[in-house]
Amino acid sequence: MMSGLRIVVTRRWPEAVERELCEAFPDVVLNTLDEPLGESGLREALRTADVLLPSVSDRIGADLLLAAGVRTKFIGNYGVGFSHIDVDAARRSGIVVSNTPGVLTESTADLAILLMLMVARRAGEGERELRTGDWSGWRPTHLMGSDVTGKTLGVVGMGRIGTAVAMRAHYGFAMPVVWHGRGAANSCPVPGSLRLGTLDEVFAAADFVSVHVPGGPANRHLVGAAQLERMKPTAYLINTARGDVVDEEALSTALSEGWIAGAGLDVYQDEPRVPLGLRNLDNAVLLPHLGSATVQTRVAMGRLVLANLLAWSEGREPPNRVA
Ligand code: 8YV
Repeated sequence: MMSGLRIVVTRRWPEAVERELCEAFPDVVLNTLDEPLGESGLREALRTADVLLPSVSDRIGADLLLAAGVRTKFIGNYGVGFSHIDVDAARRSGIVVSNTPGVLTESTADLAILLMLMVARRAGEGERELRTGDWSGWRPTHLMGSDVTGKTLGVVGMGRIGTAVAMRAHYGFAMPVVWHGRGAANSCPVPGSLRLGTLDEVFAAADFVSVHVPGGPANRHLVGAAQLERMKPTAYLINTARGDVVDEEALSTALSEGWIAGAGLDVYQDEPRVPLGLRNLDNAVLLPHLGSATVQTRVAMGRLVLANLLAWSEGREPPNRVA
């Protein structure tokens, strides 16, 4: 395809999709060193490129989008969550924004289940013990955790990923599902699942609370001290959504003072910074934002960015337009 569009990709993508992008468009700047561009690099990219293809590690706020001399007309986010992009400011500057829903649903749901199992079965603690040479051998009371099978799952936000987690929990682990989500369109296909009237009821009823709402101001600290206090002392919190949905300070307190039994986290408020208060706790399983990190999913994400870009560049509506 011939196109005069100058395209900047902010991070390395899997090679196969970098190749497909470069075959489709002749003027692509790849980030071969994979260093984050930072604020000044992003500002420069927005000033010099027609198309920016960022990801979650790029904060693209109103200050950048509404600055004088912005050339960019299309932002194709590599990821479903886009709270790192100020879409209102993008709209005001006439920039079209797309994301990558759907293709990462299954891998992210798998990771939520992984976190549930890891934290309940104390897998991180066990691995650390073994690797440091401290395992003294089998004994009946060694690293006893909690059952997962048959326990109640509480889902906060019954969208694509929340639904996929609920299905896994129900069919794989015989877990009753309770949930809460805003919006009349929300529904849950899990047999016998119960939509509760308030979030508080979900926190009180569940043995595992798994968070699946978008980040950003609307959901900031949706899980704070009040919600954690409502949870059972034997319950676990799982977050594969966005870090700002959970008040990390309140969570550290809840975990260290035994308000809840544990937490499994894949996302943090100020990535890659993870508070020491959490890192020091054995009842927190902490993964480095791996939700969609499979080769298959990351290739599919790149292909979906490309599909959106192709549609926009041909004057069609991008299939996953968010602004
Ligand atoms: C992505 C994610 O890898 O898609 C999302 O919203 O959280 C991750 O799975 C990341 O956002 C890439 O931008």
